[in-house]
Formats: sequence, structure tokens, C-alpha cells
Amino acid sequence: MNQAQNLWLRGGQVVTPKGLEKADVWIQDGRVVGVGSQLSVPEGTPERDCSGLWVFPGLIDPQVHFREPGLTHKEDLESGSRAALAGGITAFMEMPNTNPMTTDPIALQDKLSRAEDHSVADYAFFLGATTDNADVLGDWEALPGCAGIKVFMGSSTGDLLVRDDATLERILRGGTRRVTVHSEDDYRLKQRYSDLAPKAQVTEHHHIRDIECAVLATRRLLDLVERTHRPVHILHVSTAEELALVRERDLGELVTLEATPNHLFLHAPDCYEQFGSYAQMNPPVRERRHQEALRRACADGLITCIGSDHAPHTKEEKAKPYPNSPSGIPGTQTILPLLLTAVRDGWLRIEDILRLSLQGPIQVYGVTDRGPLAPGVQGNVTLVDPRFQDPLPLEWLQSKTGWSPFAGRPMAGLPVTTILRGQVAYDQGHFHPTACEPIRFAAGH
Ligand code: DOR
Repeated sequence: MNQAQNLWLRGGQVVTPKGLEKADVWIQDGRVVGVGSQLSVPEGTPERDCSGLWVFPGLIDPQVHFREPGLTHKEDLESGSRAALAGGITAFMEMPNTNPMTTDPIALQDKLSRAEDHSVADYAFFLGATTDNADVLGDWEALPGCAGIKVFMGSSTGDLLVRDDATLERILRGGTRRVTVHSEDDYRLKQRYSDLAPKAQVTEHHHIRDIECAVLATRRLLDLVERTHRPVHILHVSTAEELALVRERDLGELVTLEATPNHLFLHAPDCYEQFGSYAQMNPPVRERRHQEALRRACADGLITCIGSDHAPHTKEEKAKPYPNSPSGIPGTQTILPLLLTAVRDGWLRIEDILRLSLQGPIQVYGVTDRGPLAPGVQGNVTLVDPRFQDPLPLEWLQSKTGWSPFAGRPMAGLPVTTILRGQVAYDQGHFHPTACEPIRFAAGH
């Protein structure tokens, strides 16, 4: 096990909420104690030359599917967390549609024990809402290691589903933490699948799960939020119409939004023509006008965070003919390289990466102990080499799936080293065993 928790990162450009600043970072006993150029670092502290590198705080991916237990031929906690760590993500929040589903404290504890043994990044797990557990989720949501409650309003991968408003209202009235929602209307989805999908191609995926499926569910959800005052977080928003609706309803902090890199960096119909079912996910990637609206909402702050929705499926599974090809795209490792291209291309600033991939998740879920590099926070750091301008190498990817629609796309920087509480946990393709821990959340958040 990696022991040293002290580290002096010298000569890099630190990514701060105000942009890049030339500064050293001093980590002592796993926490940042100083950021600046005149630090009184004790002699003998291990040093690392960061000249030419960008020094990010470790980022958080608040939406991944790592498939353990039950579906580990697609991914497991070790392979998924390796992908996260190599991509500069030091903590992840994992979704409950595993087998068994994470719908009670025993299943949650099972995941926490597995993660303690196998994860190479810090972790928390969502509890899935069902009609049966709707009234007890409020008691369980504060359990250590629980990221919160996840509701699927529309069916996606797996059997988790809460389709009706009455059950949703029970869930919303039953607790206090922000509830995380997959917002697609299951009544309309079922209708459209039975009417249209049997004869459809993957190129029509976004017409089958159409804009109305997303908007209907989001409108119902916003009505319920207005009635119950329970905060919600809408995952993987996919339509310009939902963004307009959220702005119009103006429910303030009660509603936060998440976007995936897939919706920001792919668009229909090109993605389906180029990648077929490898671009198929739920809610679907849509036309360019949605992509542009989502990009603007990331830049102007309407969207609070980026979650990868890392949703691995094997190539064999993806090769099944539509609609039996499963929905989902792996992506935790490619968040940061893609966001760096957004900075290069001018639609995000470097500090927006911090806001969307660290401060946003902290705010949405009430994460404690982590944040932009400043005295007191955990010494979690991601070093990025901005000189990397090559196509994204497929062999860099750690997911079991071995594919990504972004492999081969030219990048504008690559994470090269990831540090957990002052210990180098990943360095240029090599992993160094380092203790990981559950993410902690503020009480009552
Ligand atoms: O495309 C998706 N795949 N969307 C989801 O909501 C679930 C995910 C999965 O688990 O494969």
C-alpha cells in the first residue's frame, strides 16, 4: 500500500475558480495545507515537478453504472473505478440498477464492502426508489455512503421504475435530501416502443424516445416539486425544451440539472450514422440544436454539473439489432479530456470544468471535505498535460468494454497523474494501491 500522504507539487498551473494560477500545492497528512509560491514546505517532503502541467483538484463523477454486483461481465467496481481514476476522477457516485438492485440498506452495505475491497477511487452509492420502498427511503437516505435516492420515471436498463405521480409524491414527501431523477415519461415510452420500435433502426432512437417523452416527465416532476418543495436533480437533460421549461418555472435551488458529455459532444443524426448503437443511450442524443442549448446552459450556469452516465455494455450486446441493442455509453474516463476540448474550442472556460465537475456535484449532493485546492480540503489532485493534442488512444481506456465513441477524436490535453489524499494513485498508465473511502455528505443536506 502506498504510504506517503505528504507531497509538494511544484511549478504547475493550478486550476482555480478564477482560472489558471501559477502556484505550488503542499499536501500534508492527506490534506492541502498551502497553495502559493512561497510555501514553507518542510525539508524531506516528497516533491513532484509539475512544470508544464495543469493542476486540477480531483474531480467527482456523480453518475456512473459500474454493474457490480450481477453484471460484472460489462464492468465491475475495480475496472470502472480504474477508468474513473485514470480520467482524473477521484470520487464517483454509482447507480442502483445492478443485480440485485440497490433498493435497501443490505444491498447498499454490500456495495460499500465491495468498494472498500476493490475500488481505486472514492465512492458513494444511490438507493433506487420502487413502489415498495417509497415510504422508507426517507429513513435510509442518510446512511453513510449513500449518495441519495435515484428515481427512474421511465424504464431504461434494468427493472427500476416509478412511473406514477402518486408514488413519486410519496417519495418526494418522505425525505429531505435532493432526489435524483431519470426524467422520461414511461406511459409515452411504452406506447411508442410498442407502436414504432419493432420496425425501427437505431437512427430513429431519438424519435422513438422523443422530445415529448422527456418534456412530459419533466413537466410532471416540476409540478410535484412545486407542490412538495422537495429538491430534485434532473439527470442527463437532453432537450432544449426542458431547459426552457426549467428557466420558465424558475424554482430556484429546488431544481438542479446535469448533462452528460454524450449529449454535449455527439449529435443526431450524425452520431447514429457514424456509431450506430454505440451512440444509443437513454435519454437519447438529439439534434444539434439541443446540443447547442445544452452547451450554452453549461456555460451560463443553468446546468450545475456534468455526470458521465458511464453505462458500459459489451460489444456483443451492442451488436444486437435495434431495439434489442442495450442503451448506454461508457464515459467516466473521457469527461475531462472532452471538457478540455470545450475550453480549446471556446465554449467553456477552464474554471467551468471545476464548477461542473467538482463544485457542482459538491453543491447538489452536499459533499464535504472536497473542493478547489485550498487549505483544509482533501489532497486530491489531477495533473493534466495540456500539450497532449493527439487522438484519444483506445488503449488508454480502462473500462472492460474496450470501446468509446470518442476514441480517435483529437483531444486538447490528457489527465496523466491522479493523487488521492497526497498519494500518487495513478501515474501514466500505472496504478498504485491506495486506500479509498466513502464520500461524506453534510448532515441534513
Ligand atoms: O442509456 C442508459 N443506460 N441510460 C440509463 O438511464 C441507464 C443506462 C444503463 O444502465 O445502461
